[in-house]
Amino acid sequence: MSHLAETIQAPIQTTPAHDSSVKTSTDLHGKVGKTIGTPFVDDPRMTCRDVDVFYGEAQAINKVGIDVGCNEVLAMIGPSGCGKSTFLRCLNRMNDTVASCRVEGEITLDGVDIYHPDIDVVPLRARVGMVFQKPNPFPKSIYDNIAYGPRIHGLTGTKGELDEIVEISLKKAGLWEEVKDRLAEPGTGLSGGQQQRLCIARAIAVGPEVILMDEPCSALDPIATAKVEELIAELRTQYSIVIVTHAMQQAARVSQRTAYFHLGSLVEVGSTKQIFTNPRHHLTEDYITGRFG
Ligand SMILES: Nc1ncnc2c1ncn2[C@@H]1O[C@H](COP(=O)(O)OP(=O)(O)OP(=O)(O)O)[C@@H](O)[C@H]1O
Ligand SMILES: [Mg+2]
Repeated sequence: MSHLAETIQAPIQTTPAHDSSVKTSTDLHGKVGKTIGTPFVDDPRMTCRDVDVFYGEAQAINKVGIDVGCNEVLAMIGPSGCGKSTFLRCLNRMNDTVASCRVEGEITLDGVDIYHPDIDVVPLRARVGMVFQKPNPFPKSIYDNIAYGPRIHGLTGTKGELDEIVEISLKKAGLWEEVKDRLAEPGTGLSGGQQQRLCIARAIAVGPEVILMDEPCSALDPIATAKVEELIAELRTQYSIVIVTHAMQQAARVSQRTAYFHLGSLVEVGSTKQIFTNPRHHLTEDYITGRFG
């Protein structure tokens, strides 16, 4: 049986029952023990098992196991440098672009190992799209920012079809009404919040299943942030979203599950409500109460 087929048939791990024991502590070496809480779900879109990431000799991610569910917003939080961006980038092989970076373990999308040698990263990155901290529209028109992906992925035949994808994507990103009369103007001429929604529309245009967002609102003002958060809530009905955020209020507002990372380890995963009201690990508690990070 091929590795790919084996992967497809691999049973999905479900969360073992756990007791609600008091806060787990770090071990004698200061390393974080096993992840506590509910890292796995019954109907995962993506699965990650025993994921290690190294930059040269330095280990940035240590044996992380977690699922991304269908139609959920999963928030990843933790102190600066704990590996949130590194882990997020594993989910669409963006770390392939970092020469010193090595990823071990297994990550699947719809049951297929995304690190299998047969996987082409270009379509993978369309299926698992990414939105960055700083909006990064292409130096092209608003229209061409959206049309670029469908063109290179060969998703459209006619100009009419492309027009339709551009309109639908901008509508889904809540930007259509603001830009429909200026589609030929440069994307870089939009406000920061509009640019970020343009980047989300660009990710949507190629029909993703998962959208990764790395601090998507940290360069935005509160009004633009509120719009992007509203959008995230709407997008959840069609996509899985993994969002890294430093704003705990934001994690609380937009996500259903929250994962807390510390020094490259996944400490605790739980419903967002539980993580913020009743964390089980003392490291999670220290972070959310502002004693750390
Ligand atoms: N390209 C790289 N080369 C070498 N080390 C890196 C690289 N990128 C990240 N690291 C290291 O990996 C670790 C995790 O970094 P990462 O950027 O993933 O953290 P983060 O949780 O996203 O932090 P922040 O909240 O500040 O964005 C850090 O020790 C960082 O210095
Ligand atoms: Mg980061």
